[in-house]
Amino acid sequence: MSISRQEFARRRKQLMAMMEPNSIAILPAAPEKVRSRDTEYNFRQDSDFYYLTGFVEPESVLVLIPGRDHGEFVLFCRERDREKETWNGYRAGPEGACERFGADDAFPIDDIDDILPGLIEGRERVYYAMGKDADFDHQVMVWVNAIRAQVRTGAIPPGEFLDLDHFLHDMRLYKSAAEVRVMKRAGEISGNAHARAMRSCKPGMYEYQLEAEIQHEFAMNGARFPAYNTIVGGGDNGCILHYVDNCDQLKDGDLVLIDAGCEYEYYAADITRTFPVNGKFSKEQKALYELTLKAQEATIAEIKPGNHWNAPHEASVRVITEGLVELGLLLGDVDKLIEDEAYKEFYMHRVAHWLGIDVHDVGDYRVGGEWRVLEPGMCMTVEPGIYVAPDNAGVDAKWRGIGIRIEDDVLITKDGCEILTGNAPKTVDEIEALMAASR
Ligand code: GLY
Ligand code: MN
Ligand code: MN
Repeated sequence: MSISRQEFARRRKQLMAMMEPNSIAILPAAPEKVRSRDTEYNFRQDSDFYYLTGFVEPESVLVLIPGRDHGEFVLFCRERDREKETWNGYRAGPEGACERFGADDAFPIDDIDDILPGLIEGRERVYYAMGKDADFDHQVMVWVNAIRAQVRTGAIPPGEFLDLDHFLHDMRLYKSAAEVRVMKRAGEISGNAHARAMRSCKPGMYEYQLEAEIQHEFAMNGARFPAYNTIVGGGDNGCILHYVDNCDQLKDGDLVLIDAGCEYEYYAADITRTFPVNGKFSKEQKALYELTLKAQEATIAEIKPGNHWNAPHEASVRVITEGLVELGLLLGDVDKLIEDEAYKEFYMHRVAHWLGIDVHDVGDYRVGGEWRVLEPGMCMTVEPGIYVAPDNAGVDAKWRGIGIRIEDDVLITKDGCEILTGNAPKTVDEIEALMAASR
């Protein structure tokens, strides 16, 4: 299951149709990153580059030139090289770029300084992701200056530079049927990974061992990498929103919060589950867990076309604030507490973000100064949480150090939303039953 060559072609066509006349777009592949000395991190293609090409090699540059007689889709990439391929792996080469990826024209990356200025010359406008990568910004100017140096021979340099992200990121926000299929699979694999972590969890294990269980399930199902660094926080660590040390031992009586999602065929899942290390929620843990779940249900009910981006968040804030007042963690009038943002002591993040090729996916949250209106085809997370800091002296000691988040991924449909991550156990009963059965 993956995105077809035809779909990549459709995307390029759609983007080119939005570009101004007589323009050119230039997108670089992601840079390779050193991890230590001469060892690199696994290469991951730039999301925009991938979205438009499906081409996953480094040292490549995509050029789109709408209306060019000799082909609109041009790719610069590494040449085939028997020796280098023996050491470092296969390369498509310019021939493969044309044959397998549908490029109209492809050239060796080493020739780009000689060829690209000629492709830019005579085009009035250049689109690129300005300011994203200082080296690339500089490179674009070097190519443009090469044309400027030739003006006395009649060369015409471009006069306008435009940001590519605006169009491209709006396209990425609306998922196609094929993208939804891939994202459902990412959600399914990730949901199974959470269930596996619940089944294998025991007091005395280390957080990184649960991370290993998650990673095993991902990789055994075709998703070699997580979409972001896995968070496994036991006890107090569950109150640290981006805890990734994952180095502590899990204690009997504590909760463990796992935020983990795989990247499958370049698309992310993003799931959080929180469960008791020993398989049974305490009274306080259960009370805050059920409140978080109630907030998630109220949030999901607000995810439908026509509602604006903030409506789900507002629903989560209301339910959490009301619940915290009922439980005695907040004191006062609910409306006033919401107005004063008193809930932020326990719930300090937002309930959602866009989801797609990037876990915090692209796409504007406001349009023309107003919250964006939700539309079918958009994918987002739903992730309310309650975190009682271990040193919160303002609440009864029994609540301290409880950190809970429940996160699922949804697709907005024509009359509501569809949950993409439904197979990760979620209710108190489901979690306790699964954990009891695997003891
Ligand atoms: N895993 C990052 C987030 O939930 O936004
Ligand atoms: Mn998450
Ligand atoms: Mn998230």
